[in-house]
Amino acid sequence: MKTTQFLTLTMVAGSLLAFTARAGVLGSPHDFSSQSWNVIPSDPASVCSACHTPHHADSSVVPLWSHATTASTFTMYNNANVTVASLQATIDAQPAGQSKACLSCHDGTVAINTYGGTTKGVGVTITNSANLGTDLTHSHPISLDYTPAIVGSGVNQDKWLFNPNTTTVLTPDSGTFVSGNDMTVNGFLLNGKNRLECTSCHDVHNQEGTPFNITSNPKLVKIVGTQAGKGSLLCRSCHNK
Ligand code: HEC
Ligand code: HEC
Ligand code: HEC
Ligand code: HEC
Repeated sequence: MKTTQFLTLTMVAGSLLAFTARAGVLGSPHDFSSQSWNVIPSDPASVCSACHTPHHADSSVVPLWSHATTASTFTMYNNANVTVASLQATIDAQPAGQSKACLSCHDGTVAINTYGGTTKGVGVTITNSANLGTDLTHSHPISLDYTPAIVGSGVNQDKWLFNPNTTTVLTPDSGTFVSGNDMTVNGFLLNGKNRLECTSCHDVHNQEGTPFNITSNPKLVKIVGTQAGKGSLLCRSCHNK
């Protein structure tokens, strides 16, 4: 309990920074630089070290990954586990790299401060609603290929999806989008690889879509907002519903 309160206080303090400089990890919920456990000798109060390291990394997960990786077995959102689902996409047996990285803190089984091979001080795990657990049937499907092949009204196709390679994402009228981004669904939400992962909807780094802001975008979502006749700009960028 105490650690959770401490974390929350730090986040509030961090949020004040979010409005000053460019919107990176600094000041976001993933800025652990002011945590007492963040004391690696070469780079104390580092903003990146809980997740990345330049050496001795585990690059089978994501580039230069330093955090301990979850060993959980997940219940995936698929047609077998969710009887009301009618997915055309094939869901991987377990979360793939990027999503597995997120779940290494967000499944609640691994301490945030276990990285570089050791737990720094007393382990702190996520215990509030940001703990998604290991039953992913409560979350949007992840770890699937979203290609034009599953879009349409043919056999094994979903007619309520937009073609990810030709459709441009919906952006708020007043949105802050970095010019030069590939604004197709594939380019902007599927990492250019037609892969739907946690990072399709969230951005833990520079917020290439709607910048992190403690009031208007506390959940680090890439596209925030609704528009008349369209509904949620995020959901409606992919779903024709
Ligand atoms: C909370 C964990 C976390 C923190 C903190 C974090 N990263 Fe990442 N990083 C990830 C994950 C997960 C990925 C893979 C998914 C992605 O590309 O977003 C990644 C990918 C990357 C990549 C390669 C992929 C790409 O296209 O960008 C770079 C470079 C990177 N991070 C740099 C940094 C730097 C520099 C910092 C500190 C300023 C940092 N990261 C902080 C989790 C983190
Ligand atoms: C090193 C551990 C760690 C990793 C890795 C990590 N997170 Fe987090 N994340 C946290 C913590 C801690 C918080 C703050 C939780 C709290 O107390 O509300 C947080 C907060 C968030 C929030 C905001 C939740 C809220 O209630 O406002 C989102 C969204 C999020 N993370 C998504 C991701 C995604 C997506 C990834 C992978 C790309 C990721 N996280 C990787 C530790 C991590
Ligand atoms: C299809 C889009 C989408 C995908 C994929 C997705 N999220 Fe989210 N996530 C959202 C949205 C939208 C919210 C904000 C919901 C709200 O504000 O009530 C959210 C909220 C969250 C929160 C805060 C939950 C809370 O109750 O505080 C966390 C943590 C989070 N996501 C992590 C993840 C992780 C980890 C993954 C991958 C396993 C993931 N998300 C995949 C769209 C997505
Ligand atoms: C990056 C594109 C993308 C975004 C953004 C997105 N989805 Fe999805 N969603 C998909 C894909 C692809 C599927 C799998 C469809 C299939 O297999 O037929 C899916 C599946 C679903 C399903 C499950 C359907 C079933 O039969 O079980 C629901 C419900 C859903 N999405 C709702 C949402 C909501 C609500 C949002 C906004 C918070 C959202 N989606 C955002 C791409 C997206």
